[in-house]
Amino acid sequence: GNPEIQNMYEAHTWLAKLYHHLLRHTKEGKDGYELLQERGLSDETIDTFQLGFAPNSKDFTKKFLENKGYHPQSMVRAGLLSYNDDGQYSDRFRGRVIFPIRNHQGKTIAFAGRSVNGGDPKYLNSPETELFHKGKLLYNFDLARGEIRKQGEVVLLEGQMDVISAYQAGIKHGIATLGTAITETQAKLIRRYVEKVIICYDSDNAGVEASYKAANILRKAGCEVRVASIRDGMDPDEFIRHYGSDAFRNEVLDNSYAYMGFVIQYLKRGYNMNNEGDRIAYIEKVLDEVSKMEKPIERDYYVRELAAEHDFSVEALEKEIIDRRKKQG
Ligand code: UTP
Ligand code: MN
Ligand code: MN
Ligand code: MN
Ligand code: MN
Repeated sequence: GNPEIQNMYEAHTWLAKLYHHLLRHTKEGKDGYELLQERGLSDETIDTFQLGFAPNSKDFTKKFLENKGYHPQSMVRAGLLSYNDDGQYSDRFRGRVIFPIRNHQGKTIAFAGRSVNGGDPKYLNSPETELFHKGKLLYNFDLARGEIRKQGEVVLLEGQMDVISAYQAGIKHGIATLGTAITETQAKLIRRYVEKVIICYDSDNAGVEASYKAANILRKAGCEVRVASIRDGMDPDEFIRHYGSDAFRNEVLDNSYAYMGFVIQYLKRGYNMNNEGDRIAYIEKVLDEVSKMEKPIERDYYVRELAAEHDFSVEALEKEIIDRRKKQG
C-alpha cells in the first residue's frame, strides 16, 4: 500500500518496543515501572500489553524517529510528534506511561499516555489519524476476540487499566472504548461477534450515566445487555485490587442486572420516593420502559415487582401498560 501509511505503522511498532524497553529495563523508565507495580501489574502482564514509558523530554522520540529515517511531518500525521507555533517539532508523549493501542488485527496504531505525577490531562491519547479512528476501535479486541467467542459474552469496561487488570485476573474477554461514549459502529461490531454484553463501567456518576447510554446503543444494535454494579464507588481495576478476582467474578459480573433491573434503579435518580408525586412520576417512566418489552412474562414480572415495591395494584399497572402498548401500535 501507500508507503507513508506503511511508515506510520512501522514507527508505532518501533516506538512501542522502545518505550517498553525503557520501562522494563532502564532507569529512565523507573517512574512508569513503579506506577504499574503499585497498580499490581506483573511483569508478565506488562509484557503482554507491551506497556512502556515515554521519557519527559521534548525531543527524545523526535530524535529516535529521525534516526530511523522518518520525516517529522509524517510523524505528526501519525500523531507521534507535535508541530509547534515556533515551527519546531516535538514529542507528543512526555513523562507518561504508554499503553499501545492495537487495532483489531493486533497492529499498534496509536498510544494512550498516562501521567505519572498527577499531570493534566491524566490520559493523553493519540489524535485521530489515518490509522486510528477512536469511534471504530475497541481496545484489546484482538486479544479478547477468541475468549469472547468461547464465552459467548463480552465485558465492556471503561479504561485500559480496567481491561488490563481484568485480564491479569483471568477475565480475558474484556474490551473498552477509550475515553469516549460507545458509538453505533462499535456496538454493531460487537454484535457481529457476540450477543451478550456485560457493561462494567466505573461506579461513579459519570460511569452510571455512561452505562445507561451504552446500554441503549448496544440494545439498538441487537445486543442483550446486562449492567454490573460495583460497590464503594470503585472502578473495576480498584475493585479487583481490593477484593480479588473471585469477588469480581462472583459479586460483580455474575451479579449483574438485566437491563430492566438496571433501568429501574437508574430511573430513581432525582426522585424522592417518599413523595407521592415523585413516586408516580417515577413509575410512569419505568412503565414507559416496561411496556416496550417484547415478552409478556417479562412485563408481568416487572409489573409485580414494581407493584409490590411501590404499593400500587398490579391491575392499575397492567392497565397503564396496555394503554401504552396501544399507543405504540
Ligand atoms: P477514568 O477517569 O475512569 O480513569 O477514565 P481512572 O480510572 O481515573 O484512571 P487510572 O485507573 O487512575 O489510570 C477512564 C478512561 O477514560 C479515558 C482513558 O481511556 C481512561 O482509561 N480518559 C480518562 C481519557 O481519555 N482522558 C482523561 O483525561 C481521562
Ligand atoms: Mn478519573
Ligand atoms: Mn471513570
Ligand atoms: Mn476509572
Ligand atoms: Mn482506574
